[in-house]
Amino acid sequence: MEQITLDISRVYDFVSAEEIKKLSGETLSAQQTLYQGDGQGNDYLGWLHLPSEIAQEQIVGIETAVAGLKEKTEVLVVVGIGGSYLGARAVNDALAHNFSHLKKGQKAPHMLFAGHNIGEDYMHELLELLDEQSYSIVVISKSGTTTEPALAFRILKNHLEEKVGKKEARDRIIAVTDSSKGALRQLATDEGYRSYVIPDNVGGRFSVFTPVGLIPLAICGVDIRQLVAGAKEMSQSCDPALPFEENPAALYAATRNALYRSGKKIELLVNYHNKLHYVSEWWKQLYGESEGKKGKGIFPAAVDNSTDLHSMGQYIQEGERTLFETVISVEKTDHQVKVPGDPANLDQLNYLEGKNIDHVNKMAELGTILAHLDGGVPNIRISVPALNAHWLGQLLYFFENACGISGYMLGINPFNQPGVEAYKKNMFALLEKPGFEEESAQIKSRL
Ligand code: PA5
Repeated sequence: MEQITLDISRVYDFVSAEEIKKLSGETLSAQQTLYQGDGQGNDYLGWLHLPSEIAQEQIVGIETAVAGLKEKTEVLVVVGIGGSYLGARAVNDALAHNFSHLKKGQKAPHMLFAGHNIGEDYMHELLELLDEQSYSIVVISKSGTTTEPALAFRILKNHLEEKVGKKEARDRIIAVTDSSKGALRQLATDEGYRSYVIPDNVGGRFSVFTPVGLIPLAICGVDIRQLVAGAKEMSQSCDPALPFEENPAALYAATRNALYRSGKKIELLVNYHNKLHYVSEWWKQLYGESEGKKGKGIFPAAVDNSTDLHSMGQYIQEGERTLFETVISVEKTDHQVKVPGDPANLDQLNYLEGKNIDHVNKMAELGTILAHLDGGVPNIRISVPALNAHWLGQLLYFFENACGISGYMLGINPFNQPGVEAYKKNMFALLEKPGFEEESAQIKSRL
């Protein structure tokens, strides 16, 4: 079966194959904790078997349900933050045309985002654009009370209702939220919006294969059948019954922990394909929010190469030696562009005549990996056959599964995010939210 492959051989100069193998017992025990569901955060394990549990009828149901909306929508605004938007954005951006917003004749709706920041100018400019577009909204919030998306949705709902009328606006809004709790569930019920449920046992950053990812992606024309099929295949490849050496998630978890324990505290997710930028953003949230606890955790960072070789490359090559890299390499491009010959050859590029651009990219990748190894940066490589929904499904599930194992190896609860509350408390105190009077007084005394 063709699938995503993991190569850890380029870390052996830093942590040996034997050292990684020595972690197999610990890795398998973390994996057991995950699969037996007896570890910390075990009420959030709904994502683990999700790809095999999604019935074909559910996918067909989603495709059918959104077909009408898809037809009349030019722009889909996905309102959400963190795990409630990054999965859809990662997959959509990886698969959409680079210039879909300017390209004529695009059939699928363009996916835009709101509620992932608190930018006033962003909102103003979005509304300006939406004045001219036929648009719909998918509002996503598990808690239904997160400030950023709630604020954005309040504004967008008003805008849409004023633009197309309350009845049509109702047809153009879909809510994805908790089955019974939270303000968004209440609002969806009161307003009569179509709504989908985020399962109780799936946290935001693990929710891409729930309606959180599937609904907006289906509206924007992504093949969600293939996305889920890819994830399902990968869930079989990560089966705990497989030997350690054959299980990519276990191997990745063990390798990154071995590197961490050897002093490599920062993992850089590196891509050589610009469409993967938001896969890295999604991955940063997955690992950062899952592992950064109790004063521990590998710091997840990312670069887009070769672009960032001209900005971050110097640090990676010669800065503090606490980095390791995980490179996502896409084997095949979708299109071919060859380097033309030029009789004048002033740019001295004729030696590349007839070669594909991707050949140059692959040599940049290989050259960089070797240079970084020489500079003391170990390298894990994940090879993805091509950029499509199927391989993305595999890739995202692979990272989720490895994250669960890796988190337990670190001895933390990978499925909570208590630290996210600290800024909210201060923000509410500063905004003088009712109920925060005491915190308000306290924080003001610090200013
Ligand atoms: O992964 C998480 O749990 C978070 O990133 C949440 O997804 C994010 O904070 C948004 O929360 P909510 O969906 O409740 O609005």
